[in-house]
Amino acid sequence: MNTVEWSDALQLDYEPMDAVHREFVDLLALAQNAPDATLPLAWAAVVDHTAEHFAREDEWMRKTRFSAAENHIIQHRVVLHVLREGLALARAGQMDAVREMAGELAVWFAKHTQSLDAALALHMRREPAGGGASRRASGGNPTVHAHL
Ligand SMILES: [Fe+2]
Ligand SMILES: [Fe+2]
Repeated sequence: MNTVEWSDALQLDYEPMDAVHREFVDLLALAQNAPDATLPLAWAAVVDHTAEHFAREDEWMRKTRFSAAENHIIQHRVVLHVLREGLALARAGQMDAVREMAGELAVWFAKHTQSLDAALALHMRREPAGGGASRRASGGNPTVHAHL
């Protein structure tokens, strides 16, 4: 069974994205280790989290007019669609198919993170809206400013 574990290779140094990715790795591991009885529930948690994860990245790309957005957004849509089909399979008791999908998702996630998400993280680190501005602003002392 293919699994994914958090490692430096997945770290993109854009904390809002890394935090979501760490949660994803945990949820996928929970699903992969779940017995049949709780797999549908664990898979539903993966699907819900992934829907939010992808929606957040899509929003960043749209808001900052990221040039490579189209392919990335399409990939999110396709994968989420497949994961939702997996939920239907889980609820129908086809656990082997879901477990196979979970293994494929682990492989896909590592690849996606190191390619399309890595490019997006680099872009967001350079964007004022992505935290660049707030990092610069945090150089000041807010307490001092509040008293001016
Ligand atoms: Fe991501
Ligand atoms: Fe992504």
